[in-house]
Amino acid sequence: MASTPASASIGATNAARKIYPIVKYGDAILEKPTATVKKFDADFEQLTEDMFASMYAAQGVGLAAPQIGLTLRVAVVDVTTGKNPEAKIVLANPEIIHAEGEVREEEGCLSIPGFRGYVMRPQFVTVRAQNAKGESFEIRAENLMARAFCHEIDHLNGILFLQHLSMLKRDLIRRRIKKLKKQGEW
Ligand code: NI
Repeated sequence: MASTPASASIGATNAARKIYPIVKYGDAILEKPTATVKKFDADFEQLTEDMFASMYAAQGVGLAAPQIGLTLRVAVVDVTTGKNPEAKIVLANPEIIHAEGEVREEEGCLSIPGFRGYVMRPQFVTVRAQNAKGESFEIRAENLMARAFCHEIDHLNGILFLQHLSMLKRDLIRRRIKKLKKQGEW
């Protein structure tokens, strides 16, 4: 998920990390389901660190594996955009086990740069997932973090935030992207 313009920052960087290019809307991989993570080894841990680095480079608060071209059920979230190392959350094989309340707020996506839209999301969610080492945990989140969790878990199911918008708004954005593609700017 893209950060709000006001909270955008350069974020934490690590020179040793691989920065992946972000896959943009129009690439079929963004709308495919992902495969369960089964192997929690050093390579997987490395991948999650590279995902954080790629997310910070793109000034995002969340990034899912399909956005770097991998159909794997893992996403990373840091609503502080790298300001607090404690806020780094790896969600491997996540599932929402509880949701409560509703908040309608604007959100964006690193794969759909330049476009934002209002999406209704739960105010509170509890997510069960595994961390980079494969350890299971549960985390309760509210507001922005709850929104980021829902947005990233959607990605892992091949769903983009555009699908939550009204048909009118969605078509408007699709038309603009089509135009940008024609102009070679997408
Ligand atoms: Ni996104």
